[in-house]
Amino acid sequence: MSSKIVVLISGSGTNLQAIIDACIEADYPGEVVGVVSNKVDAYGLTRAKDAEIATVALSHKDFASREDYDQALIKEIDNFDADLIVLAGFMRILTPSFVQHFQGKLLNIHPSLLPKYQGLNTHQRAIDAGDEVHGVSVHFVTEELDGGPVILQAKVPVFEGDKADDLAARVHEQEHRIYPLVVKWFAEQRLSMQGDYAVLDGNKLPTSGYAND
Ligand code: GAR
Repeated sequence: MSSKIVVLISGSGTNLQAIIDACIEADYPGEVVGVVSNKVDAYGLTRAKDAEIATVALSHKDFASREDYDQALIKEIDNFDADLIVLAGFMRILTPSFVQHFQGKLLNIHPSLLPKYQGLNTHQRAIDAGDEVHGVSVHFVTEELDGGPVILQAKVPVFEGDKADDLAARVHEQEHRIYPLVVKWFAEQRLSMQGDYAVLDGNKLPTSGYAND
C-alpha cells in the first residue's frame, strides 16, 4: 500500500519536485497527496499543480497568532489523512502543539550538518567559520528547533572562494538525492522515531544519522 505524503513548502520547491519525481517511479511506496504553502506565491505550488497534486495556500498573515495558524494548518493536513508530513523548505517555527499532533510523522531537511548551524544563513556561516566540509541533514522534527534525531546526512566540500550561492547549489544537489531516499525508508515502514532516536531496520541510528563516517 502506498503511503500518503503531504509536503509543506514556502518557496521554490525543488525538494518537493525531487519527491514528486521519485513517487512517479513504479516501485516507489509513496504518493504526494497534498502540498501546503504558507506563501501564496510559492513556485512549489505551481510544481504541484503541474503534477496534478492538490494544493493549499494558507498564508500565516491571515492569522493573529502562531498558535491559530498552526491549528488551521493541522486541519488542512488532517484533511489529507497523511501518513507522513514532509517539510521541504517550510520556513516557519512550529508550535509544540503542532509537533505533538504529528509526533513521529514529521520529517525536515536542513541545510547544514546538524547539530552545526541550526537556524538561518547556514551556508554563509559555514564559509565564515572556515569549514572545509558542509552539508545537509534530514531529521525527525521535535519541539526543539532543528534539533530532532538525524536520519541521514550528506557532505559537500567547501572550496576556496565559494560564495553562499555556490555552496547552496552544491548542497541542493545532495538534498535531492537524500530526501526521496529517507521518505522511501519511512514509507516502507523501515524508519521510525523512538524516544530520542531515529530507528532504521530495528537499529538505533547514531546521532549524526545513517551515513556516519
Ligand atoms: C532547502 O535548501 C532546505 O534545506 C532549506 O530550504 C531550502 C528549500 O529549497 N530548509 C531550511 O532552511 C529549513 N530550515 P527548495 O524550496 O528548493 O526545496
